[in-house]
Amino acid sequence: MKHPPARRRPGARRRGAAAGAAAVLLASGAVALAQAQASAAAGCTVEYTANDWGTGFTADVKVTNLGDALSSWTLEWDFAGDQQVTNGWNGTFAQSGKHVTVKNPGWGGTLAANASVTPGFQGTYSGSNQAPSRFTLNGTVCDGSTGEPTDPPTDPTDPPTDPPAGDRVDNPYAGAEVYVNPEWSAKAAAEPGGGAVANQPTGVWLDRIAAIEGVNGGMGLRDHLDEALGQGAGVIQLVVYDLPGRDCSALASNGELGPTELDRYKSEFIDPIAEIAGDPKYAGLRIVTVVEIDSLPNLITNAGGRPTATANCDVMKANGNYEKGVAYALQKLGALSNVYNYIDIGHHGWLGWDDNLGPSAQLLADTADMSGSKSNVAGFITNTANYGALKEPYFAIGDSVNGTSVRQSSWVDWNRYVDEQSYAQAFRQELIGDGFDAGIGMLIDTSRNGWGGSGRPTGPGPQTDVNAYVDGGRTDRRIHLGNWCNQAGAGLGERPKAAPATGIDAYVWIKPPGESDGASSEIPNDEGKGFDRMCDPTYTGNPRNNNHMSGALADAPLSGHWFSAQFQELLRNANPPVQ
Ligand code: GLC
Repeated sequence: MKHPPARRRPGARRRGAAAGAAAVLLASGAVALAQAQASAAAGCTVEYTANDWGTGFTADVKVTNLGDALSSWTLEWDFAGDQQVTNGWNGTFAQSGKHVTVKNPGWGGTLAANASVTPGFQGTYSGSNQAPSRFTLNGTVCDGSTGEPTDPPTDPTDPPTDPPAGDRVDNPYAGAEVYVNPEWSAKAAAEPGGGAVANQPTGVWLDRIAAIEGVNGGMGLRDHLDEALGQGAGVIQLVVYDLPGRDCSALASNGELGPTELDRYKSEFIDPIAEIAGDPKYAGLRIVTVVEIDSLPNLITNAGGRPTATANCDVMKANGNYEKGVAYALQKLGALSNVYNYIDIGHHGWLGWDDNLGPSAQLLADTADMSGSKSNVAGFITNTANYGALKEPYFAIGDSVNGTSVRQSSWVDWNRYVDEQSYAQAFRQELIGDGFDAGIGMLIDTSRNGWGGSGRPTGPGPQTDVNAYVDGGRTDRRIHLGNWCNQAGAGLGERPKAAPATGIDAYVWIKPPGESDGASSEIPNDEGKGFDRMCDPTYTGNPRNNNHMSGALADAPLSGHWFSAQFQELLRNANPPVQ
């Protein structure tokens, strides 16, 4: 049996989330519209909540319709100072001088009686950042009164304020709006054309202890959760990513904790996250956690005598701190009824070989058991920060050319899968076979696996030989399936979407598009990040990509830092295209 190089996907990270752009009709209260009331009552209230960091701010503008149902809405106010909206969500924003107009987004304009909607925005200002004092909804001043004294009071049993504690659900994405990270959104919106995707939900990466409070004055975990409540979001996606000896098979995303610092991981990282996530204030918000990408798979493919082993992964396999750390995270976070843990399962180009998949599933089951119960796990995520195509439309694993299976092509190289969706679905069955609940669901990070643009094949390759067929028809244009860093030619993939296919809870954008996978040359830093030559376009490879060129874009900054040229290429090569 051919034992292929263990594909990995280390540094590259991902994204997540589902449902489309933001938004939000918080159906609160008395939904039974008083149809009988013929005359149009009009009235509204506004709660304006700003989160200010000195040079800029985000604000949520929750407007509640106290009048009759509206089929479209326009919210207006004047700023007191020189505040300027830079980008907004849950509405279409326009500003002229001090005057701001927000119209309902194209995908949803109705606002039922007693329902609320929460447009939000990011802004800049100088001087003082005073809140606006007067708002209007469709021309009516939002002062809590209605034109109709006969207007019935809101159902007192259903106040439109704090969302109720949510019941545990099978798929946390179903029917829920997903949190839009304003920090990512602002960076995307600042790129030419970026506004078209800036209101997509992306993952919030807790990639170091300091991220819990906020790095360099940026938003911390509570800020994000508060902002999510303000957006009226039903789901927020967090990436829990700070294991001891992190990223053992690569260097670009090495972290702050050394291989033996398990106690610090528990007490300074997981415990504070669990404490915040467990605040009753957030009980109605579903918190999806992507748990420690690239960790457990590395113990299978990149350690223990495999030709692809690295010294660092051998250390982590020997000391058990990946399993102990992941089990601890699953246990602490899994104890919270609003948290949904999804564990990383690499991607098809890493674990899609028979000798990798079965043992990986077993290790996942053992680690979940170590956490106390497999029920701490809601599901699994594939392709985080990787580039594997969601579906290869022009060839399938069962195809053959002149009697030779596509599995024998250089590209597929005996892998059992050719794309992420078939891999995720099969892996799910394997995990259920290993004792996980039949209700587990999969997430697929589609942030950067679109492979559109002019390089995208438009039909199958020629049937001259198996390599011509596969190489001519594959939409994944990487030089090698094991390449993972800032891949040239990639594009944004499917937009986040809930329940898109059997067994798949959501397509998500966990890796925020535009954030680098790693620097193309050495850059000194205080984040623990090394220089991995897989991010250097001149590198000729290592055993983990079978000694191929890296395929990386040049001039990339450190992993996690904004890489404008990459964002623009992802936008250009998006598939489906960005309108
Ligand atoms: C990489 C970085 C990490 C960053 C993430 C998301 O994994 O190492 O710091 O948060 O990508 O871009």
